[in-house]
Amino acid sequence: MKALILAGGTGSRLRPITYSMAKQLVPVANKPVIEYGIESIAAAGIRKFGIIVGDTGAAVEAAVGNGERWGIEITYIPQDAPRGLAHAVATAKPFLGDDDFIMYLGDNLIKSSVSGLVQEFETHRPAATILLTPVPNPSDFGVAEMTEGTVTRLEEKPKEPKSNLALVGVYLFDKRIHESIATLQPSKRGEYEITDAIQDLIDRGLTVRSHIVEGWWKDTGTVEAMLEANRLILEDIERKITGTVDDASRVEGRVQVGAGSRIVNSTLRGPVIIGDHCTIENSFVGPFTAIDSNTTIVGSEIEYSIVLAECRIEATPARIEGSLIGRGVQVGRSSSMPKTIRLVLGDSSAISLP
Ligand code: DAU
Repeated sequence: MKALILAGGTGSRLRPITYSMAKQLVPVANKPVIEYGIESIAAAGIRKFGIIVGDTGAAVEAAVGNGERWGIEITYIPQDAPRGLAHAVATAKPFLGDDDFIMYLGDNLIKSSVSGLVQEFETHRPAATILLTPVPNPSDFGVAEMTEGTVTRLEEKPKEPKSNLALVGVYLFDKRIHESIATLQPSKRGEYEITDAIQDLIDRGLTVRSHIVEGWWKDTGTVEAMLEANRLILEDIERKITGTVDDASRVEGRVQVGAGSRIVNSTLRGPVIIGDHCTIENSFVGPFTAIDSNTTIVGSEIEYSIVLAECRIEATPARIEGSLIGRGVQVGRSSSMPKTIRLVLGDSSAISLP
C-alpha cells in the first residue's frame, strides 16, 4: 500500500497566517500539522508516500523533506490548481499505479494509529474504507447517510444534511476508485469531489466499509479548530524540562520547555509546550498553550493559544486567550501619552481589544 497526502489547496479560512504559510505547516503543539498524519501512516509500515502540493509546494518540501527521518520515501507531486480531492488523486495516478493507497488530507490531524485500518482493508479488500465522526456542523463536511449500518449515500457539504456523520479526511482505496474518478463532473462548488467518486463506488455495487471514530480527529481548517487540535495534542504530552527554570518560577503539571529556553519569575501551568530558545519572564503561560521557538514573552499572561516562532509579547494589559499569533509578531505596550492603540496588521487579521 502507498500513501497519498494532500497538501495543496488554499488556506482561506486560516488567513492571515496562510498568506505566508501553507495551512498544512501551521504548528499544533509546535509541530506542523501534516507531520502527525505522516508519522501515523509511517508507523503502519507504509514506506512510499506521495505528497500533492500546490503554490506552497516549495515550503512544504523544505519543511517535510525527503522522508528520511521517518524511514519513508517521499515523492512530491505538483497539482496545477486546487481542482478538488478527486482531481488530486487523478494527478497522482502515475505515482499510485494500480496499488492500494491510504489518502490523508494534510490539514487534518490524526492522533491515533491507522495500522488497524490498513490491516482490516487488506483482510476484507473493500473498494474503499471511509471514516466518519459525529459533528455539530455537518454542512461544513462531506456527510454520510447510513442504512442498517451501511453507507448508502454521501453528499458533499449539503445544505440539509441527512445525518451528523462527517467524512474524516482519511480514506483507503484500491485501484477501482480511478474508474469512478474518471466519470466525475465538477460539483456545485466547481471541484472534482472524492465524495462523489465514493458515491459512484456505492452505485456500482462495490463494498465501501465505514468506521465511526470519536476524539481522534480534527479538521484544522479554522482558527477555532486549530486551537482545539492543539488542546487535543497537549492533553497527552509528558513533562520534559530541558531549558532552565529559575527558583522564582513555578512549573505546574505537564509542561515541556525546550533547549536553551529560560523561564524567569514566571508560572507555567500545564499542559504547555515551550519551544527552543524562548524567554518567558514575569509572565503566566496557562493551560493548552504552545509557544514556538525563539519567542519572548515578558510581563504578560496567555492561555489556550498558539504562538508561532520569533514573536515578542510584552506588557500586555490583559490576558491573551483563544489566540493564534503568527511568526515574528510583536505585541507590546507604549507608556507614552496620548493613550493610543498603534496597529500594524496584515490583511485579514483579527483583534479584539478589552
Ligand atoms: O476535513 C474533512 C473534509 O475534507 C471532508 O469532510 C470533505 O468531504 C472533504 O471534501 C474535505 O473538505 P474540505 O473542503 O475541508 O477540503 P479542503 O479544500 O480543505 O482540502 C482538504 C486538503 O486537501 C487540504 O490539505 C488541501 C488539500 N487539497 C485540496 C484541494 C481542493 C489539495 O491538495 N488539492 C485540492 O485540489
